[in-house]
Amino acid sequence: MRTKLVAVAAAIIAAGFALAGSAQAQAQAQAPIIIKFSHVVSPDAPKGKATMVFKDLAEKYTNGRVKVEVYPNSSLYKDEEELEALQLGSVQILAPSISKFGPLGVKEFDVFDLPFLMSDDARARQMMASPMMEDLNKKLEAKGVTPLAYWDNGAHVYTANRPLIRPEDFRGLKLRIQGSKVLDAAVRELGGIPQIMAFGELYQALQTGVVDGEDNVPSNILTQKFYEVQKNLTVSYHGRLTYALVTNKKFWDGLPADLKEPLARAVKESTDYFNETAAKDNVDALEKIKASGKVQVHYLTDDEKKAWVAKLMPVHKEMQSRFGKDFIEKIYKASGFTPPQS
Ligand code: LMR
Repeated sequence: MRTKLVAVAAAIIAAGFALAGSAQAQAQAQAPIIIKFSHVVSPDAPKGKATMVFKDLAEKYTNGRVKVEVYPNSSLYKDEEELEALQLGSVQILAPSISKFGPLGVKEFDVFDLPFLMSDDARARQMMASPMMEDLNKKLEAKGVTPLAYWDNGAHVYTANRPLIRPEDFRGLKLRIQGSKVLDAAVRELGGIPQIMAFGELYQALQTGVVDGEDNVPSNILTQKFYEVQKNLTVSYHGRLTYALVTNKKFWDGLPADLKEPLARAVKESTDYFNETAAKDNVDALEKIKASGKVQVHYLTDDEKKAWVAKLMPVHKEMQSRFGKDFIEKIYKASGFTPPQS
């Protein structure tokens, strides 16, 4: 009798465990897949807004099977940490500037920082849509990083505490740069002192004089209030801020197949939203900065721009040893850039 009772009790307990186990498995299966999306800009900058659009669309198109947690303003990872965190799978999506890909070991992305290569909006978009990007995308994938889209945040302007009109005005200036070797070479060519610095540290560094100036897009200069701690802004459009929307390859490849299409749709639509919004926000931001009366804004004349181009073209030559002449020629062809005849 006793043995029978023990067996029944054991069966009941086992059934209970099985039930609990399957309930747990069911709960886990029903728990949303979490996508952590970290970035370094403020929520009201174009990337901050587009990230929220991606969140809303991803959650809507997957009927809540995906939940996107957004961490703006370097609140989760700073510049130098976020790519490593992505490779480790501690975060699932980022949208960093491609000028910060050097540490990933894909140096080819620095080529897009060649002075005046990507100044023109149409040329820049032509470049990022060109088949050449497939080769670069494969190199990123080999590092465990899958590019989902490229977001074009427009052309760079310079800010500093003195007018930057002629190349010689840069002499001896400490200028903050993103991590690319080409940006480093360009500042040196102008006679400045390049200083790599995380975006999140830049406001304070400008305020305290750790650096004298920086280059960025107007929407970042406005939303991070850099214009409050700088006296001069030169509309030079000498470089460009392109983001790569990237994910961890293992994470993305491991997603349930029926989630791939809805997420790809969210990527596509938030990319369209970004490119439209960024173009408008950067024009508006420059107007707002001008209207603040806090900085002296100077638009380079054609002759002044010619002097900058002539001063900076040696960087293109110098980088032939880094990227190879053929590769640079291909980039010129894909972007439609013609180096001025010297
Ligand atoms: C910068 O570091 O200046 C920018 O790349 C920041 C950003 O993400 O817009």
